[in-house]
Amino acid sequence: MLTRDVIQAALIGSLRAVVMMSAVTAGLGACSSASDSTSSTSTSTVVPAASKPRAAPTMRELADRGDLNIGTAVDATALKDEAGYRKVLAREFNMVEAENVMKWEAIHPAADTYDFAAGDALVAFARRHDMTVRGHTLAWHQQNPKWLLDADMDRAQAIAVLRDHIQTVVGHYRGQVTQWDVVNEAVPDTGSGLRDNVWLRTIGPDYLALAFRFAHEADPAAKLFYNDYDSAGVGKKTDRILALAASLKSDGVPIDGIGIQFHVYSSLDFDKIAKMMATADRANLEVAVTEADVALKTPAQPDALAQQAERFSGLLAVCVAAPNCDTFNLWGFTDRHSWIPDFLPGFGAATPFDENLQPKPAWKALLKAATR
Ligand code: XIL
Repeated sequence: MLTRDVIQAALIGSLRAVVMMSAVTAGLGACSSASDSTSSTSTSTVVPAASKPRAAPTMRELADRGDLNIGTAVDATALKDEAGYRKVLAREFNMVEAENVMKWEAIHPAADTYDFAAGDALVAFARRHDMTVRGHTLAWHQQNPKWLLDADMDRAQAIAVLRDHIQTVVGHYRGQVTQWDVVNEAVPDTGSGLRDNVWLRTIGPDYLALAFRFAHEADPAAKLFYNDYDSAGVGKKTDRILALAASLKSDGVPIDGIGIQFHVYSSLDFDKIAKMMATADRANLEVAVTEADVALKTPAQPDALAQQAERFSGLLAVCVAAPNCDTFNLWGFTDRHSWIPDFLPGFGAATPFDENLQPKPAWKALLKAATR
């Protein structure tokens, strides 16, 4: 269902279009001779257009109006091969993010080799369609190349490798990637301290601060995020993520915010999410919804699709209402290309567009939530 606001905006938009068309027509008439039949022809074509309602605004139009980044992770192969995928992507979103191709194993496959081809294709697509780009990710415990995991590095060597990678990648996309997930999933699910990864083992806990500093040196204008799951939920992990980000911030580390992944499998507590965003705000940290999807048991039933719509749109509404949240990214926009069926067999249908790129109830609900 369209909201009253959306309908109103559409009506105002179509009225405006009629006024503009009439003005253009009047102008043409003035330039033409009195006997020029085109002026009367064009006037008569305007009249039926006035009674034709303008199409409802796209998500992209709503996002631009509301100063929001509404984006999605992009599957590099679909981007290359599927015109339909590209069409919906460019029509509905004003931000894109590489689902895999900017991760270590893809972009830095050998110690002395960087491969920017797929990342460059995404950035070029974004530039052609006037979209912004999120970069993902510069230090993580997964999707690392074997050469890195096998490398025998002391602390100084590991710092040099991390610096080279971050400065090369962030430097390559300087001015083109507006937000980076610098460190991904460094907080363990339970217990204290940091999650084991190659950087913790070789450098120690200050790898986080170093990673943010290297990224900031390479592109001082890019916004830098710590990104994780369970970062705005119930429980201790959220508190530990907030504490980590706040302590980096108060130490003067160039961190701008916390990315909240939101791979949703159960109900959401919107009050808790709003509270987390407010706590982050008090620590002078932005928040970004970075990887939203809502997994359903397949085949998805109508009531599950309705509940999915509530979860997606409730999440966007919380972000829109928070002064420090201006970014809402899906982890894939179509069920045709989503990581969920592989990650969690028996589940899927996790995105707002179906396998035929048609909007599901979740998309209509998201459009409503984006109207502010
Ligand atoms: C996932 C991709 O979607 C998959 O295609 C890939 O096989 C594994 O990684 N958290 C993250 C993302 O930060 O990078 C992950 O992406 C999903 C979970």
